Amino acid sequence: MINPTEHSSSGLRVLVLHGPNLNLLGQREPGVYGNSTLADVDAALQRLAADLGIEVHIVQSNHEGVLIDEIHQALGQEDGMLKNAGAYTHTSIALRDAISGVKLPAVEVHLSNIYAREEFRRHSVLASVCRGQITGFGLESYLLGLRALHGILTHTPGGTFSGTHRVG
Ligand code: DQA
Repeated sequence: MINPTEHSSSGLRVLVLHGPNLNLLGQREPGVYGNSTLADVDAALQRLAADLGIEVHIVQSNHEGVLIDEIHQALGQEDGMLKNAGAYTHTSIALRDAISGVKLPAVEVHLSNIYAREEFRRHSVLASVCRGQITGFGLESYLLGLRALHGILTHTPGGTFSGTHRVG
């Protein structure tokens, strides 16, 4: 049980997006994606967010348009975005345009190491409009991603790479 008085709020708000098939975590290819369920991932994110004083708004959808609508709605509501777009990572120019359109700092995460898998997974059409990408650490990828985003949003020395990022 998290006691809100133990955590100081930074006032930061982060949209967490889970793309298609991530609702099946835990039962979906456990040898690739591990045994954690999406509820486990979300609970771990909520705990870390509370520690960092971040409010997270978490959405999973199997539909590209819903994910795009969420990104549009984040404008003016959220300070940054943590996302695992699932297979849309490799195909969706529309999601890419949404991310670059709202200009919110975004961090891409993947449970599996997409560079150690099939050829078609080794390219992300979204990564170059994000501040960075964390791939291959299972549930921990999300936590590392949230820490990275926190560093970017708070300009924590060593926690931000804003001097070198390229968006566009
Ligand atoms: C994934 C990798 C994608 O290639 C795949 O389509 C997913 C999950 C990952 O988290 O490892 O759905 O994004």
